[in-house]
Amino acid sequence: MNKKLQNILIIDYGSQYTQLIARRIRELEVFCLVYPYNKITNKLIKKINPSAFIISGGPKSVLEENSPKLNSKILDYKKPILGICYGMQLLTKCLNGQVVHSIHREYGHTLINIKIKSPIFNGIKKNKLKVWMSHGDNIKKIPVDFSISSYSNNNIISSIENKQKKIYCLQFHPEVFHTDYGSKIIENFVFNITKIKKKFKINNFINIKINELKKQIKNNKIICGLSGGVDSTVTAYLLNKAVNKNLYCIFVDHGLLRKNESAEVEKIFKKKFGKNFIKVDAANLFLKNLKNISDPEKKRKIIGNTFIKVFEKTAKKIPNVNYLGQGTLYPDIIESIPFFGGPTAKIKSHHNVGGLPKKMKLKIIEPLRELFKDEVRKVGENLNIENHLLMRHPFPGPGLAIRIPGKINKNKISILQKADFIFIEYLKEKKIYDKIWQAFVVLLPVKSVGVMGDERTYNYSISLRAITSVDGMTADFYMFNNRQLKEISSRIINNVKGINRVLYDFTSKPPGTIEWE
Ligand code: XMP
Repeated sequence: MNKKLQNILIIDYGSQYTQLIARRIRELEVFCLVYPYNKITNKLIKKINPSAFIISGGPKSVLEENSPKLNSKILDYKKPILGICYGMQLLTKCLNGQVVHSIHREYGHTLINIKIKSPIFNGIKKNKLKVWMSHGDNIKKIPVDFSISSYSNNNIISSIENKQKKIYCLQFHPEVFHTDYGSKIIENFVFNITKIKKKFKINNFINIKINELKKQIKNNKIICGLSGGVDSTVTAYLLNKAVNKNLYCIFVDHGLLRKNESAEVEKIFKKKFGKNFIKVDAANLFLKNLKNISDPEKKRKIIGNTFIKVFEKTAKKIPNVNYLGQGTLYPDIIESIPFFGGPTAKIKSHHNVGGLPKKMKLKIIEPLRELFKDEVRKVGENLNIENHLLMRHPFPGPGLAIRIPGKINKNKISILQKADFIFIEYLKEKKIYDKIWQAFVVLLPVKSVGVMGDERTYNYSISLRAITSVDGMTADFYMFNNRQLKEISSRIINNVKGINRVLYDFTSKPPGTIEWE
């Protein structure tokens, strides 16, 4: 897709910070793509046509025999290269320098001393920088024609460069917030060294995507899974622009949606897509398949599989359908790639990725898979999607099933829907809904004793969850004040039969995740 869109290819070696590199570059309004190192082929590089490469860090040591290697072909492209941490060591090894195990391992904050005037440190007035390190190996001998641009306080080489070949290597992580001038260093690589001119404008992205979708889908029909959430809504609008009447939107009501949501989604999308909007009421089937299941991963897999089966069955009724459109985003993919069982190891099977049976008969199209949530919202704005749809808090594919730890039944779903509705209405009424990235109620599998109107109660407990975040990758819990917590708690207990205790979840991500399962 990127013949017209200048971009940077980030080659992922499994660092927990790889997605941060992507974010920092996107913040500069430059397009970038992330691919795992073992997917890098000449064909892929030619297709992507990157203006530069970034080689990420990773958990392995280049000194180990089976450590991930560099496809040395990337050196033949004569494009600027930035190697970060493992990427620096890999390039050094590949170019006949020497890497050794460190006597001084460096983790966390470290001071480096800049020794030469370098384009990578352009505009940085200081010679001493506090940077974020995370390495056990270091460079002993630099490759021929390279210069050392900085040393750490431990006398370890912390950056090297070959100005002429535009290869820059950093032992530290410029993408991490704790590195002084980290964003400036990345900016220098992107604009001063790579000389990217065409910025990544959302409108360009939309036009390029639409053309690409037209070419790919041609006169075939495509079905889009619509949930009413931001991701699938934007996906559907984009597909609609590309293929118009050849798009069929299927809304599977799995009975695990928020209160009133099913009816709302039906109303909005029937208006937009007319007969091409198909609603399938599959609540009973999902409930049956989930009966007695309490393991979170099993729940996710069952929901994913049931979902696709319902889809395929519905799809069969529409002739000549070959494609299935999904609103998968970049963070959904990253957390689903198990990388060496290391820090980016699988955390949860995301509904859009993990639940798909391998022998799926429809080809998957995910037009938003390179984007972060905030970028998807911008795409939505440009497609004139109503603001209240775009600003809706994210809602997971498996729905309320993963907000009811333990076994699920109709009664629990109904109690949760009522409590969640009151909580969300409160946030809207007090104008705090838009300050919060995501808020919801979790129905706990715990009953406790209470007293209401002189009567003993023995009812469920709920936990409120409200977090702030930029992209869902990390999150902080939102701090309500006392009065707000009191009001929310009493509104829920007074209005929802079956709940007599309200707890507040003050866990950030990490160590928690946003959803409970
Ligand atoms: P976690 O719980 O992993 O959630 O911190 C991160 C974000 O992803 C959402 N989420 C999902 N979205 N399908 C989705 O489409 C899923 O299976 C799924 N699981 C979690 C979650 O609500 C949060 O916004």
